[in-house]
Amino acid sequence: MSNYQIENLEEYFKVYRESVENPKAFWEEIAENHFTWKKRWDTVFSGDFDSANIKWFEGAKLNITENCIDRHLADRGDKTAILFEPNNPNEKAQHITYNSLSKRVNKFANVLKAQGIKKGDRVCIYLPMIPELAVSVLACARIGAIHSVVFAGFSSTALAARIKDSSCKLVITSDGSFRAAKTIDLKGIVDEALNECDCIDSVLVAKRINSDISMKTGRDQWLQPLLDQALEVCEPEVMDAEDPLFILYTSGSTGTPKGMVHTTAGYMVYTTYTFKNVFQYRTDDIYWCTADIGWITGHSYIVYGPLANGATTVMFEGVPNHPDYGRFWDIVEKNKVTQFYTAPTAIRALAKEKIDFVQNRDLSSLKVLGSVGEPINEEAWNWYNENIGKRKSPIVDTWWQTETGGIMISPIPYVTPTTPTFATLPLPGIQPALMAADQSELIGNQLEGSLCIKQPWPSIARTIWGNHQRYKETYFSAFKNMYFTGDGAKRNEVGYYRLTGRVDDVIIVSGHNLGTAPIEDAINEHPDVTESAIVGFPHNIKGNALYGYVTLKETVRTRDKNQLQKEINQLITEHIGPIAKLDKIQFTQGLPKTRSGKIMRRILRKIASNDISNLGDISTLLNPEIVAGIIQSRLSQ
Ligand code: WTA
Repeated sequence: MSNYQIENLEEYFKVYRESVENPKAFWEEIAENHFTWKKRWDTVFSGDFDSANIKWFEGAKLNITENCIDRHLADRGDKTAILFEPNNPNEKAQHITYNSLSKRVNKFANVLKAQGIKKGDRVCIYLPMIPELAVSVLACARIGAIHSVVFAGFSSTALAARIKDSSCKLVITSDGSFRAAKTIDLKGIVDEALNECDCIDSVLVAKRINSDISMKTGRDQWLQPLLDQALEVCEPEVMDAEDPLFILYTSGSTGTPKGMVHTTAGYMVYTTYTFKNVFQYRTDDIYWCTADIGWITGHSYIVYGPLANGATTVMFEGVPNHPDYGRFWDIVEKNKVTQFYTAPTAIRALAKEKIDFVQNRDLSSLKVLGSVGEPINEEAWNWYNENIGKRKSPIVDTWWQTETGGIMISPIPYVTPTTPTFATLPLPGIQPALMAADQSELIGNQLEGSLCIKQPWPSIARTIWGNHQRYKETYFSAFKNMYFTGDGAKRNEVGYYRLTGRVDDVIIVSGHNLGTAPIEDAINEHPDVTESAIVGFPHNIKGNALYGYVTLKETVRTRDKNQLQKEINQLITEHIGPIAKLDKIQFTQGLPKTRSGKIMRRILRKIASNDISNLGDISTLLNPEIVAGIIQSRLSQ
């Protein structure tokens, strides 16, 4: 019990030391005292990074929904579990209590069972941020089905690829979604995706926008009538600690998206513990994370972490600028939100609007502010601190990844002194290392290198669905016996970490990870394109934006470039989704390549960022003459 919630810096250092000196005892004590198990584990931890066979709490039996729902019913059944704020501010918010969440999850679980879904089956969830999204995630977990939530901004091609990769049997979607003043035809996107998939037996459709959609007989069913008939009790499936809980896709620097597999017990223990500490959650707090449940932040810190702590978690369907740029602050004021967790890109977008949007609202309920998804720049940090936190709410700049399952490096509010742009210190159980290119670990402070983690922690993803070899190669082959994050970081004079960005070909745009390869593949499908290369360049709001270099076939070089740009972005929207559209496209005669034919992205990145003073030695390129032409046309833009 003792060390569960850290309350001062001295305690943090003590707990941290214990956690790394004896991780098994540390996590065992937490698991033992704060969760409901059907059977205790035999082994706290086994495995290592080299053999990529990590297991936590092996032998234990549990169901995560008993920890997120059932165990709270006796003493807080009437407390709000999920507070749903709709897109339209005039539509009533919904306060879903733990009792009501329990009924809804149990009914939904029975509906899934009636559709023939069993433990281990994969269920794809393609829903907007409506309560059914959280309920369906939990319903899957209730019966041991593996959920694969696909962010509802992805295109039909991207959705189909994800459904096929993990051969899902059932899709849960809605007739459509609201986004600001628009509606989006989600069911139409699902129909298109399913033209390419033959693994799906049934589609359950929630009603949200009341649009007139077509339902395929024998495959599609409205959800509500099935729920109405379902029983309110569904015994939780008994799961092994290492049974998969969910798959969530993330972009890689090459190839198809990676279906990261998270398992049950370790993920539960880690997200619950980190939620409690990083947000210093207290019983009556109202916690709000603005992420979408389609991303890991939503899985871990809208659904599982908060609910396992018996918290009230806000789910927001809308966007920050609808009906105006004060929407976030309206919701904070109305619900007396105490912890607010968002992304730097949202902060930057709000900071450039009139300050009246903030000043006209009462934000005095706020105690903790969070940031996630990309490095937060100093200007945005200061704006957040001064205008939203009024210099009294600490900012927790939380660094982590889909693969890590939970927050890894972050201040603990009211405990760790914060410094703008620094994620500060590792949480208990996490041992970061900065590595040099020659594989050696950089010991000491004021150094910069590739960020690795030295010891397995409970919520690390266990594999890539269907491709364990790729998992090994991506995360454990760059540095011996270490988990490689793909990020660069600096350690300052007091040992605080500052994340400096990706060191691979993943580009973070508005907090979304985008791999360059699938975007280039989409562009290369255009009949007029020979080849293309995508790089990131700095953008005031998005953090990074995408810059595309596109070489056209000789015969079409006189084509109207505006039209071509539209066609290229249309292709990207169809293959991936609008989030991957290019901000700038430069048509080139060719791309700079090494003698082995690899595109020199380093040079292209510099040119895109207008940083051409030091391009390095280009004489060794296969085609050095091409660079001058690219620079010239960049400068004339
Ligand atoms: C980046 C999101 C700097 C980083 C939880 C990481 C950050 C990638 C931060 C993972 C932060 C996330 N400071 N960079 N506080 N948080 N990142 O998988 O590059 O969507 O590798 O998980 O986002 O993104 P993902």
